[in-house]
Amino acid sequence: MSNLSRLTYAVMRAPAGLIAGLGITGVLLAVTASAADNTAPQASATMSELMTRIVQPSSDAVFYVSRTPPQTDEDWRQLENKTLMLAESANLLLIPGYAQAQEQWLRDSLLMRDAAVAAFNAAKAKDLPALEELNNALYESCENCHTATR
Ligand code: HEC
Repeated sequence: MSNLSRLTYAVMRAPAGLIAGLGITGVLLAVTASAADNTAPQASATMSELMTRIVQPSSDAVFYVSRTPPQTDEDWRQLENKTLMLAESANLLLIPGYAQAQEQWLRDSLLMRDAAVAAFNAAKAKDLPALEELNNALYESCENCHTATR
């Protein structure tokens, strides 16, 4: 029997007064609550780590796309992977632990996400000019947020 079912079994057998006295209901509620909290999105790293390990390398793929344009299918696939990573990291900027409660923060995160989703679609279409065009919007999202928050 697991600890939890042993606990449930004990609760079922114990007289009501004893249950109240031991506060077992409270224990059960606490177990349920902590399981529920676990399912909410939460930051797994520091902001600095998110920026240097995910945002920077994936956005560099867009910023420097003209320097070494993708040629093979494999190159394009790599670019798809990086732009998708960038788009999803913009969503991470909005979860507890990374998010900051400012309108500017929300606006810049969404700007970054829109530019990155467009870049992901451009990579899937192997559209180099479209990727080059997106550079400005993407750069603006980084700069705006850094100016406002760092
Ligand atoms: C919504 C806000 C926001 C957006 C958008 C954003 N950043 Fe950041 N960035 C931050 C904050 C806040 C820090 C400071 C983190 C710290 O040091 O605690 C930071 C730090 C950084 C750092 C320095 C990390 C270090 O510790 O050295 C780099 C590099 C960086 N960002 C790159 C980018 C790039 C590239 C983009 C755009 C593609 C971008 N960021 C978009 C908020 C943002």
